[in-house]
Amino acid sequence: MPLPFKPYIEQIRSYEPGKPIEEVERELGLKKVIKIASNENPLGISPKVLRAVKKALPKAYLYPDMNGFCLKERLAEKLGVDRGEIILGNGSDDILDLIARGFISPGEKAVSSKTSYLLYPIVVKSQGGEYIEVPARDFKYDLDAIRDNIDKKTNVVFISNPNNPTGTYVNRKELTDFLDAVPDRVLVVMDEAYCDFAEANDFPDGVFFVKVGRPNVIVCRTFSKSSGLAGLRVGYGLANARLASYLNKFRQPFNVNRLAQEAAVAALGDDDFLSRTKEVVSDGKEYLYRQLDRLPVRYVPSEANFILIDLGTDSAEAFDFFMRKGLVVRDMSSYELYTFIRVTIGLPRQNRIFIKILKKFLKEKKL
Ligand SMILES: Cc1ncc(COP(=O)(O)O)c(C=O)c1O
Repeated sequence: MPLPFKPYIEQIRSYEPGKPIEEVERELGLKKVIKIASNENPLGISPKVLRAVKKALPKAYLYPDMNGFCLKERLAEKLGVDRGEIILGNGSDDILDLIARGFISPGEKAVSSKTSYLLYPIVVKSQGGEYIEVPARDFKYDLDAIRDNIDKKTNVVFISNPNNPTGTYVNRKELTDFLDAVPDRVLVVMDEAYCDFAEANDFPDGVFFVKVGRPNVIVCRTFSKSSGLAGLRVGYGLANARLASYLNKFRQPFNVNRLAQEAAVAALGDDDFLSRTKEVVSDGKEYLYRQLDRLPVRYVPSEANFILIDLGTDSAEAFDFFMRKGLVVRDMSSYELYTFIRVTIGLPRQNRIFIKILKKFLKEKKL
């Protein structure tokens, strides 16, 4: 008798990460490869955080605080919520997974937009759920169509705001109208992994909706992007106390490791690093827009730390071209955007190198 492999799990298309620097260096014998494929922080790790991690390292033989007291205390203070409204995760991916485990059973549904974060279908399908992808409109979430796709079996809606990989956003009014229209029994997940980079005046703060007592909203945030802790894995969810405690019941007890907790606490006390990060991203975005405007490519204006670019030609080929020149970009084929790449905004020098190689590529392709 074979093992009882579950067909709905076997059918899952695994997550494809940005190609790691070490792998490219090993495979191509290159040195100093630049990765602008996973929306990591271009400034690296903050010195303050590094000191905190080094200080915590000798205690790595001890289990971490399973309730993350200090980290929750700092988050609660910063965001104006109660500690009981916070759930910590091994990255915000962990929270997304807990949401699916807590709210999706075989035959139940989750809805989101097409061209959104690739982990949503994975966590939903891993529970035997059905994942409904609603076509986007101009690369943007079509919230009206999403609402029309909600039925009795729909338990969860995922909204990535700003959206990965398009960089588009749902504004305050659109979100408020949507939340007013969605039945209370449907959990709306506001995935705000990139919210720190949003500059639009009408960009909504998902935490507001938790604070005003919407029982069916959970906000997911991460230290991976603006705080530069992607390799340590720490994120969190914010929701009313009943929902937070529900998800807390079945998470792995020590899901956020000791170093990650210390690093996150230090990051919350490092406003300077956060503002420098935002500045580098904002300036870099302006530079890239200016350069891209002069080239025969199209791009989607972004509220995040990356830009989705349509090269008008095979993206896998472009990915390869860039990689051989020591630059790892994200090929968007896995999102069915076969002529697009996604580029993380880097340091000024990295942005210049990207534009230089892009020009070479377009010239070679006679575009
Ligand atoms: C939209 C979105 N949500 C969540 C995450 C997960 O981030 P992490 O698990 O590193 O906190 C990412 C990471 O790329 C993302 O793009």
